[in-house]
Amino acid sequence: METVLVVGATGNIGVSAVSAVLRSKRNVLAIVRNQSSADKLVKYIGSSKGITFAEADVSSDTAVKGVVDQVRAGKLPAFHHVYTCVGGEYTITPLQEITTERLRYNMNLTFEANFFAYRDSIGYLLEQNYPKSTWSICTGAQGETATHPVPAMAQGALFSFSIAAARENESTNVRFNEIFLAFRVEVDEVAAKSGAVKATDFGKSYELLLDDEKVRSSRIRIETEADMSKLRYNKLF
Ligand SMILES: NC(=O)c1ccc[n+]([C@@H]2O[C@H](COP(=O)([O-])OP(=O)(O)OC[C@H]3O[C@@H](n4cnc5c(N)ncnc54)[C@H](OP(=O)(O)O)[C@@H]3O)[C@@H](O)[C@H]2O)c1
Repeated sequence: METVLVVGATGNIGVSAVSAVLRSKRNVLAIVRNQSSADKLVKYIGSSKGITFAEADVSSDTAVKGVVDQVRAGKLPAFHHVYTCVGGEYTITPLQEITTERLRYNMNLTFEANFFAYRDSIGYLLEQNYPKSTWSICTGAQGETATHPVPAMAQGALFSFSIAAARENESTNVRFNEIFLAFRVEVDEVAAKSGAVKATDFGKSYELLLDDEKVRSSRIRIETEADMSKLRYNKLF
């Protein structure tokens, strides 16, 4: 049975990924920062069945490496896919008012943590040489619209990262893809009140991506709700 390492598993997008993985009869290895985050994930999913928790602070540049080291040592389950979606604050603070401290905090979470997740897990997937491996990231259309400058600027960096990773994996055993999301997704119980799209509905797109071997080195464009059940994509380079 395949396992998906989910980095950022307890957020809106992480819950969508975990629900999709479990629906697709795969297991989850979820990195969580503490027990209360783990409890939050179990509450949203409704059960811990199929989920192994690894405790680490993904804002640190040693967190994912530490988890992968434990996988190599046989202390945590082997994984075949990675999905990353760590995020910071969704704030509209104008450029002139962004403090150095808030900028660094948010670039660390929304860019660096996702980059560290790639840098420190891709080598493991390449070594395993499992032919159906995938590595996926969720980015946002904020990177183009920039109505929320802080998260937007980090998305810009993730766009460039995605092009480089797509190019570097074009001929490997790992299908790298960027899921580009253009509307708000929230965990189901919050979305029911706010009118955002439900995480479990958005998860359908990841379920499709895991099984569609044609989609490689691409940006999957989720711009309308219909895009969640029929993937639209284009090559990243
Ligand atoms: N939601 C959307 O509609 C949307 C749309 C477009 C793109 N995206 C992309 O998806 C990313 C995640 O969005 P989201 O809505 O899922 O965000 P979220 O709900 O705020 O979740 C963020 C994740 O990062 C973790 N995290 C936050 N601060 C942390 C810290 N200081 N240390 C360690 N972990 C920390 C959270 O862990 P805890 O649960 O422990 O706090 C959670 O797992 C965004 O940044 C963006 O790149 C999202």
